[in-house]
Amino acid sequence: MEQIRSAFRTYGYFSSDGLEYIITDPRTPAPWVNVISNGDYGLVISQAGSGYSFLTHASLNRITRWEQDLIRDEWGKYLYIRDLETGLTWSAGYQPAGRDLEDYRVRHGLGYTVLEARRAGIAHSLTVFVPGHDPCELWILRLENKGSQRRRLQVVSYFEWLLGAAPDWHREFHKLFIETWYRADAGLLLATKHLWELPAGDEIGWNRSWPYVAFHTASPAPSSFEGDKRAFLGRHGRLEAPQSLTAPQASNTQGRFGDAIGSLRVEVTLDPGESKEVVFVLGAARNEEQALSLGRKYQDVTRAHEALRQVQRFWRELVGSLTVKTPDEALNRMVPWLIYQAVSGRLFARTAYYQTGGAYGFRDQLQDSLIWLLLGRPERTLEQIKLHAAHQYREGIVLHWWHPLAETGSKSDYSDDLLWLPFALLYYLRETGDFAALEERVPYYDGGAGTLKEHALKAFEVALSRRSPRGLPLILGADWNDGLNAVGKKGRGESVWMAHFLYFLLTGWSELPVLDAATRERFQTEAQSLKAATNLHAWDGEWYWRATTDSGRVLGSRNSPEGKIFLNAQTWAVLSGLAPLERARTALASARKYLYQPYGPLLLAPAYTRPDPEIGYLTRYAPGLRENGGVYVHAACWAVLAERKVNGVGSAYELWKSFCPAHRGQDADAYQAEPYVMPGNVDGPLSPTPGRAGWTWYTGSAAWNLRAIVEGLLGLEATLEGLKLEAQLPEDWDGYRVIRRYRGTTYQIRVRRAEPGEARGLWVNGKPWDNPVLPQAIGEVLSVEALV
Ligand code: GLC
Repeated sequence: MEQIRSAFRTYGYFSSDGLEYIITDPRTPAPWVNVISNGDYGLVISQAGSGYSFLTHASLNRITRWEQDLIRDEWGKYLYIRDLETGLTWSAGYQPAGRDLEDYRVRHGLGYTVLEARRAGIAHSLTVFVPGHDPCELWILRLENKGSQRRRLQVVSYFEWLLGAAPDWHREFHKLFIETWYRADAGLLLATKHLWELPAGDEIGWNRSWPYVAFHTASPAPSSFEGDKRAFLGRHGRLEAPQSLTAPQASNTQGRFGDAIGSLRVEVTLDPGESKEVVFVLGAARNEEQALSLGRKYQDVTRAHEALRQVQRFWRELVGSLTVKTPDEALNRMVPWLIYQAVSGRLFARTAYYQTGGAYGFRDQLQDSLIWLLLGRPERTLEQIKLHAAHQYREGIVLHWWHPLAETGSKSDYSDDLLWLPFALLYYLRETGDFAALEERVPYYDGGAGTLKEHALKAFEVALSRRSPRGLPLILGADWNDGLNAVGKKGRGESVWMAHFLYFLLTGWSELPVLDAATRERFQTEAQSLKAATNLHAWDGEWYWRATTDSGRVLGSRNSPEGKIFLNAQTWAVLSGLAPLERARTALASARKYLYQPYGPLLLAPAYTRPDPEIGYLTRYAPGLRENGGVYVHAACWAVLAERKVNGVGSAYELWKSFCPAHRGQDADAYQAEPYVMPGNVDGPLSPTPGRAGWTWYTGSAAWNLRAIVEGLLGLEATLEGLKLEAQLPEDWDGYRVIRRYRGTTYQIRVRRAEPGEARGLWVNGKPWDNPVLPQAIGEVLSVEALV
């Protein structure tokens, strides 16, 4: 960020409007990527120009081959530029032949990435993006002759086809099923695969074709093409200097007998000062006809630019639906990127560089989809809720995750999964007051249908029935913390966090005006008994335990040599209201003492140093990594919300800043990951690199961080009664502004510190308003001023 200068080595900065992150040195400590998707087709691209593409499912339907190698970062879809006079060849990006590029700049934007550089008197910029509604990606390469000689250039694309499930472990086997063919009339290289390993559970097994036709085309029309890797690279050839580029023509190989790649050659002549654009298209269509028509559509450069403008407009409008302006520039910068990360990365693409996914996690996308509520688009959250409800069995249990395309998944034995359905509904209802939604009928995964309310009540029934003799919830396969997967395998281990979570939901739901009296009373009684049991059994003196194992061992107690204290068991005791005030304070004070690091709050401490088969795979990570005592950002955001509740905005803000990428990323060599998106986790104190971030673009972290900002820092919370504003200012803030839409009203909120002698309070459209719940005026803009 320009305003935040630092003494550390920098690799980039935010553009002045904050909507681009500009990388000036490609040798970033880790891949700094963009995840671009229109909700169906998508791609991941790094600052070096590497990455992969997919349709609908990033693992089951990968279009191009890629290897997850963060160090070499050398698999991708590349463009070479070759000077036909001198033979000098380089690439448009740093990989695979761009080491000597001058003025290299990568601009990651919302929905697009631009790689810019110069070499040998040619300035070039490559814009990569996915049109809003078509299953393809476009690469617009602009070339400009900066010299005084006429230049004859050749532009050559290159990538490997994968066409199906990734990785294709046995590639010598899988390559035998790929077929490529060329349509000279349309300048279109096509490819399909006669085998698709789709885990659809329908017994078809290895007897199914990949039901798409992938295509690659360019404009101007290609002069020759290559469909075989060996012909392109040469035996023992290197991507840095492919052998075929030295030949006047590519070999025009197609068919079924090669090692399938896609490569097109295009010639461009540039007079001094002249610039031209070349467009490449790559996509996956339903059939050859659609491939031809999409190819033709985007061979038109004007069309390609129009598609780019549309994409940019879409994202700008979306991130503009929530405006936040505070004295903290890093915070302001993060807001649009958090929205973009949650929507493009987690809801649309569901994949990234660290974790390549494509499936839906039952709890994951439900939580991520809460982002729409903050953007005035609650109908998108409801859509997500319905999608997940349709992956619930009649008995109430849900799929832990499932694959789109295959529609298969794993039936969950996690104790918490099913409860995220009533959780998301509760947030939806607080946002909208749309209780009619509860009457919408949604099918069950194993047949039949029920209203959303019935779906939710079934989840409660199952959760309430899974209790230990002393009334605490059983943890079973695990709870939110996937890594605790052995704690309750035998059905006896308990989860204290689940007690908090269930208590939160029971009390929240019992306030809804839609429960019959008997259910409401039952929920209240159950909530009270959970509260009593937890406070009686699971309070350790200074904090709450986290769980007990099947054999009765306590996790997260002063008597535990490792895993003494866990963050979620303290933060959720507060967030749920289960902890009496004194305990809430003590629990957070203990979290502060044992867990808060300068780079964020740890998920637990001390980390486990040896695998513990009674606890689960969490203990198998090196100490300090991921759930084993790193900062798990998803959970760190909950700590911000809990701090706000108990200790006010000052503590919440300090904690929030401690793991804010735009702050921490100023020391990029230590932090390593992208400074513009949330990481999944940050290494803890037992790692040799505490504070190093990884698993960026990960689920949970962005949507929750935005909520931590809006509720935890800005004090703006949706309640059943309306939008509540409880403004407080961190010491070094003089005020802030927010524009937030809620139930059809647009609130323009300005908070500032009262001058000495000035009255404090709340004004709506200039008139005093003495209720923290703001009035509503559908279709109108209300101007709210708070003096604190
Ligand atoms: C991963 C999972 C998420 C889980 C978390 C903690 O983020 O996707 O569902 O809650 O890890 O284990």
